[in-house]
Amino acid sequence: MAVSAVVGLQWGDEAKGKIVDLLTDQFEIVVRYLGGNNAGHTVMFDGSTYKLSLLPAGILRPGVTSVIANGVVLNPKALLSELKSIKDQGVEPGNLLVSDRAHVIFPYHMAEEAILEKNRGEKAIGTTMRGIGTCYRDKIGRTHAIRVGDLYRPDHFRERLQEVVEYKNVILKALDPSAETVCADAIYDEYCGYAEQISGMVTDTTAFLHRALKDNKNMLFEGAQGSLLDIDHGTFPYVTSSNSSGCGIQAGSGVPSRVIDRMIGVVKSYTTRVGGGPCPTELHCEIGNHIRTEGNEFGTVTGRPRRCGWFDAVATSYGARVSGVDCIAVMLLDVLSKLDELKICEAYEIDGERTTDLPSQIQDLERAKPVYRTVPGWKKDITGVRRMEDFPKEARQYIDTVSELVERPVEFVSIGPDRDQTVIL
Ligand code: IMP
Repeated sequence: MAVSAVVGLQWGDEAKGKIVDLLTDQFEIVVRYLGGNNAGHTVMFDGSTYKLSLLPAGILRPGVTSVIANGVVLNPKALLSELKSIKDQGVEPGNLLVSDRAHVIFPYHMAEEAILEKNRGEKAIGTTMRGIGTCYRDKIGRTHAIRVGDLYRPDHFRERLQEVVEYKNVILKALDPSAETVCADAIYDEYCGYAEQISGMVTDTTAFLHRALKDNKNMLFEGAQGSLLDIDHGTFPYVTSSNSSGCGIQAGSGVPSRVIDRMIGVVKSYTTRVGGGPCPTELHCEIGNHIRTEGNEFGTVTGRPRRCGWFDAVATSYGARVSGVDCIAVMLLDVLSKLDELKICEAYEIDGERTTDLPSQIQDLERAKPVYRTVPGWKKDITGVRRMEDFPKEARQYIDTVSELVERPVEFVSIGPDRDQTVIL
């Protein structure tokens, strides 16, 4: 498996970090290609918990080179503080490279996002407030964007920042007359400081990855968020601002997707969603609360309680098709162990019509009523299971149903947070 990718097939938080961490000892290079410090990856091993946001999970494995590629939006302050926090936990971070093509998140991105979200009231996207969407907007708009490489050309950077900040202050005031403005000189000094601290990591990562491919290095692409949060293919507008499905790999890294030998889709054994937007299988009842408590479903980045519901095979199989995955990893199966019976959404009913397609328009998804298949629970502790044949037959039936409806073979089942609590088929 020279080149593999791990992507989430739902609305993020599928526990991709655990699968990436499990696989990283087979890879020399781990690449993060999208998003920013909006993502949250929790990795547990040897009794320690590591919370990663911007750093690829490969950072925890000695000998692995981690790459933050061009498609990421980089908050350098967040990067430095995350590096410090893992060092404080006793991990010496492996080699880390940061693309000089990545776009930089500045304080005005966060300020603008806070006002935009507040002004939308009930229609707020429910973003992580990390300046992700506003930074990507500048990237696509081009005229007010600043990339990592610009930080190392002081005259150009100062001039550019003056121009951008002047414009941003006009926008901030227009959006909210009580908004505080930002100061170009202060930002310049602050960001020159960050640039100096990360200078040893900054490089043309695209050229690095191309050389690595030529040298037949094993490479793993680490997804963030999930396929249903993809800006083009997700549940727009309640999505993140990048291509968080498998579609983002090529644009976000410069590596053509045709070189990927194995695409692994990660799914939770139920559904969670944070922020706004429809979630047809969401449970507003005791079972939803039970899943939230058992699964500790609170955001890694924001601490927000996640919305919980039954496994949605319509949404997930769509995610699998868009991302083009070969197989799936079913995560957090142990969370369902205490329930008498389980439901899996196998179709939607919209205005009396049954469909297994994910609607392209949000208004249609809002009206979708889940059609459920009910299967028995196993009511046994499965956290010690290490082989497929040792699962209770009801748990195997559940895994088989997920596989049948997502139309992909299951190759991993996770039954606890630790590295070894994984059944690999
Ligand atoms: P943004 O990425 O901060 O702009 O947020 C846009 C939407 O994506 C919001 O609904 C967020 O809650 C969601 N989101 C962003 N990152 C993650 C993640 O890592 N896991 C789950 N949801 C996320």
